[in-house]
Formats: sequence, C-alpha cells, structure tokens
Amino acid sequence: MDGPLIAVLGAGQLGRMLALAGYPLGLRFRFLDPAPQSPAGQLAELIVAAYDDAAGLERLAAGATVATYEFENVPARATEFLARRLPVYPPPRALEVAQDRLAEKTLFRDLGIPVPPFAPVDSWQGLLDGVKRIGLPAVLKTRRFGYDGKGQWVLRSADDLAPAWAALGSAPLILEQFVPFDRELSILAARSTAGQIACYPLVENHHHEGILRLSIAPAPGLDEQTQHLAHEYARRVLERLDYAGVLAIEFFQYGAQLLANEMAPRVHNSGHWTIEGARTSQFENHLRAILGWPLGDTGAVGHCAMLNIIGDLPPVAAALSVPGARLHLYGKSPRPGRKLGHITLVEPSEEALRVRADLVRLLASQAAMASHGDFGFWIGDLAIDDCGLTVRQWQAGRLALQWTRAKSPGLISSLSHAVMRDLSLRSHSGRRSRLKAWSSIPASRSAASSRRRLKNCLLL
Ligand SMILES: Nc1ncnc2c1ncn2[C@@H]1O[C@H](COP(=O)(O)OP(=O)(O)O)[C@@H](O)[C@H]1O
Ligand SMILES: [Mg+2]
Repeated sequence: MDGPLIAVLGAGQLGRMLALAGYPLGLRFRFLDPAPQSPAGQLAELIVAAYDDAAGLERLAAGATVATYEFENVPARATEFLARRLPVYPPPRALEVAQDRLAEKTLFRDLGIPVPPFAPVDSWQGLLDGVKRIGLPAVLKTRRFGYDGKGQWVLRSADDLAPAWAALGSAPLILEQFVPFDRELSILAARSTAGQIACYPLVENHHHEGILRLSIAPAPGLDEQTQHLAHEYARRVLERLDYAGVLAIEFFQYGAQLLANEMAPRVHNSGHWTIEGARTSQFENHLRAILGWPLGDTGAVGHCAMLNIIGDLPPVAAALSVPGARLHLYGKSPRPGRKLGHITLVEPSEEALRVRADLVRLLASQAAMASHGDFGFWIGDLAIDDCGLTVRQWQAGRLALQWTRAKSPGLISSLSHAVMRDLSLRSHSGRRSRLKAWSSIPASRSAASSRRRLKNCLLL
C-alpha cells in the first residue's frame, strides 16, 4: 500500500532533507517550486509553477495527505488555497505572522516573551520619532522579505538616518533597539497535531555578513535555566498558534536574558546538526508532527558543529578526509553567498569538537584555494589563546599565505602582512578573543578591495 503523500511548497535544500528523512518512514513527496533546477526536484516529483499558480497548486494537492512548506516567503494565500483542499501545517496563520517582523514581535510581546524595544516606521517623521523613543544604535529593517541580513540597516548615529531611509523607506519598516548580545542562540521545537511538544537543546549560532556560518549544539556552557526559558517561550508560541510541525525561534542572549529576534515556521538551518547529532532529526520530527505521529527523542548524542558551505564547493575527498565529518551537498551550483551544503561533526566532548572543527576549517580553506584559485582564508570562530589551537590556526594562516604568495605574489604581500600582524597581536595578548573569518577573494580583485574585504571578516 502507498504511504502518505506529503505536498511541499518550495523545493530547496530544506525540502530535499525532508524527503531524505521521510523515505525511510514510507512517505512519498511532491514539491512545487518556480525554479526547475531545485534541490528537492532531484529526488522527488517536482511541479514547476509560480507559488500562486492555481493549476499548479491543484496538481500539488491532488491525492496528497497533508501539505507543508519549506520556504518562508511563499504567499500566505497559496497556503490558504491549499488549506481549502487538505490539512496544511504549520497553520497558514503562523506563516502570516512570521512573514511580518512587526506581527512577529507583537506576538512575542503579547506572550510575555522579551523582545528588544521596537516601533513600526512608515514615514520619515515616524523614523525620527522611533529613534527618539528607542535611541541609537538601532536597526532599521524591512518588515517583510528580509533574509540572510538583507533589508537591514544599522543606525549608529544621526547621520545614518537619511541613507537608511533612502535605501529602505519605500517599504513598511520596523525599528529595533540594537542589542549588544553576548551570543545568538536558537531553539528548535516541534508540536504534533496531537499536541505533543518536544524541544531540542539550544544551539549557538555564528553569522557573518548576515549568513549563518556555524552552529554549535548543544550551545557551549548552556545552563538549565536558560534552556528551560527557551522551552517555555517556544511552548507559548506553539500553543497560541495551534501549531504543528517544527518551529525555530532565534534569540539574543544578553546576560541572563533571552530576547526573541525572529521565528521561522519550518525546519531551520541551525537545526541541520540534528541529522547526525540528535536521536531524531528536525526533518523527521517535522514529518511526524504534521502527520500526528508520536514525536521522536530530541536529545543530543554528542557535541556537534555544523559548518555551512557557502559560495564555493570543497572537493568531496578533502571534506571526507576528516574522520567523522559528515558532508551534505544540496545539488546547487556555486554562487557567491549561496548555501551549497554543510558539514557536521559529532564528538564526545566540547574540547574534541573544537579540535576537529579546526581541522575541517583548515581543509576547507585549502580546498577552496586549490579548487578555485582564490585567496581563501578560513580561521574560524575559535577561541584564540596561547594553547595548541593557536598553533594550528597559525599553520592554517601560513598555509594560506604560502599558497597565495606562490600564486600571485604582488597581490598578497601587503595583504598578508596586515593579516598576520593582526593575528599575532591577538594571539599574543593572552586573552581569549574570537575571530570570525571565512573569505574567498578572487585573485582578480585589487589589493585594496581584498584587504578591505578581509578586514571586514576579522571581527573581534
Ligand atoms: N536588534 C538587533 N540587535 C543586534 N543585532 C541584530 C539585531 N537584529 C538583527 N541583528 C543581527 O543581524 C542578523 C540578521 O537579522 P535577523 O533579524 O535575524 O534577519 P534575517 O531574517 O536576515 O535572519 C542577526 O542574526 C543578528 O546578528
Ligand atoms: Mg535571522
């Protein structure tokens, strides 16, 4: 007998991983996406149509058991169209709320979940009033369609207001206080149509240029109280929206506080570690939840790091040469800033994980250089102190520099000196500090623009 058929709006990597998790459970999948070359289309039936194409949506729904979505910007009316034909989870209302930062923050606030002070902005005068009330620094964001840091402007001084307004003012906006957070965390929570709730351990997330680069789970140094708080906040949202499926909520941790930033009514990049790192993956639990099946155990089986592969593909053999590294490629062609895959590491201790993640970064930097002739430099989010890790990081840096010197000596000499000096200052200070750097700079760029780009990558 045929198993349940899941209709999915969107056929990106999230859809692909849903299908990969669902096949062992006997599920079948049908996707709809406007792009003919979609990651999920490589392994399931794909209807190529616009999200609001009625005929396409009819075909998607025909004979399906339940519909879901893996892309947050599908028009809410597409989910409503489907909801008149079959059950749709998460409920269209959750999608509507998540698509509007103002509705989202208002919901959090109404549920007693702390958020940074915010104000809607619909006019230049509204922006001035908002800044007066909230103060600077602040972040001005489009209410809709923002992702990976796009549609945002940080306001540090009064001089920033006019350019921010010129860039964003044509759309409805929200102004938020800038939070000097200690770190970013996310919670992945599942609720089934039967009302069962399960939460994964909090995840620590590192972004660069607005894109998630690295997730560590469970978040290092996590205390029970913070975990409990995040569960409680997730439970309130899930129950208020009569939610089914996986929900992600992003938080800023600031002292003992968790401030909610945004939510995603779907499986989430910061939950990819659960494929190998949890007893049940977020993808499997999303499917169990929307089918009303019992949820699986959300416990972690070790300490996990998930590194996104962005822009360039490392050679498969290099990535696999790290014992225990698990590679996931999404079947997408390389393009700057594009998420092409991820690598997951699972280790028995936080310390073992740090060393292993270091090795993956080293290999990835070599791989990117070797395969694309770019200046690749990847010295990740590791604590720099005078311990063994520093030595390996220096080696990574040296390797990168030797390679680039050999390839294009003129371009690199000034650049490399600046970088090495910067690194040595930090590593000899004896303080623990953090460097985030993943950069791949085409050799054709000028030394000045390369230096600028690299400097932007080195964030304390
Ligand atoms: N109010 C804020 N204070 C400080 N940093 C912020 C704030 N809002 C966003 N950011 C930073 O920008 C990143 C992207 O913003 P976010 O609201 O999550 O939008 P996106 O939909 O692009 O993920 C966040 O992960 C955080 O690093
Ligand atoms: Mg975000």
